[in-house]
Amino acid sequence: MQMPMANKPFAEACDQNREPINGVLSRFLKNRHKVLEIGSGTGQHAVYFSKQYPRLEWQTSDLKSAHDGIRAWIEDSGLTNVKYPIELDVGGTWPSEQYDLIFSANTLHILSENLVERLFLGLTSCMLPDAIFLVYGPFNYGGSYTSASNEEFDYWLKRRDPDSGIKNFEWLQDIATRSGLECSQDFSMPANNRILIWQKIR
Ligand SMILES: C[S@@+](CC[C@H](N)C(=O)[O-])C[C@H]1O[C@@H](n2cnc3c(N)ncnc32)[C@H](O)[C@@H]1O
Repeated sequence: MQMPMANKPFAEACDQNREPINGVLSRFLKNRHKVLEIGSGTGQHAVYFSKQYPRLEWQTSDLKSAHDGIRAWIEDSGLTNVKYPIELDVGGTWPSEQYDLIFSANTLHILSENLVERLFLGLTSCMLPDAIFLVYGPFNYGGSYTSASNEEFDYWLKRRDPDSGIKNFEWLQDIATRSGLECSQDFSMPANNRILIWQKIR
């Protein structure tokens, strides 16, 4: 998160990636109404996408420390279809509600492997049978970085928190399979990011 904007936290990256993300998200909204966002961060994505899609009910969530910022964005927006954040630590208790779509941007590289495993275990209980988990961010393939900038970013992440870092796609597939999920689509995104779509294995 960067400079505060009129008392709201602001992340430049959200403004840059929201339209490319929307290009993919829009393809998965038919017959989907209830969204849970994991790690809403500033709340910018939640407000942007809820404005684009008034028929969606967008439930924000994050650790308690992020709630004031998310609330500020929601209050300023005047939107009624974006919901105030619930406390969701992916390593803790998950909501009892079920959703059509679970969305998360730029979170998996922030979390430890243990927390990502807990995330994949926890989210299945929140997924309706045809739900998808749409996750945006940088990923490695076959143990290799997809760009020099991702490699630098990974070193930067690990200096901050040695347990964090860009996750390997094949490792995600392994843990997802154990949770009964498979990656059904993988989209290339600007700036060496990806969108991965996970669904329950039929
Ligand atoms: C890099 S930020 C991304 C925020 C936002 N999704 C975005 O794209 O700008 C990572 C987010 O993960 C959240 N986070 C960190 N640890 C978490 C945990 N254990 N459970 C849930 N969220 C967590 C942070 O609070 C933060 O909002």
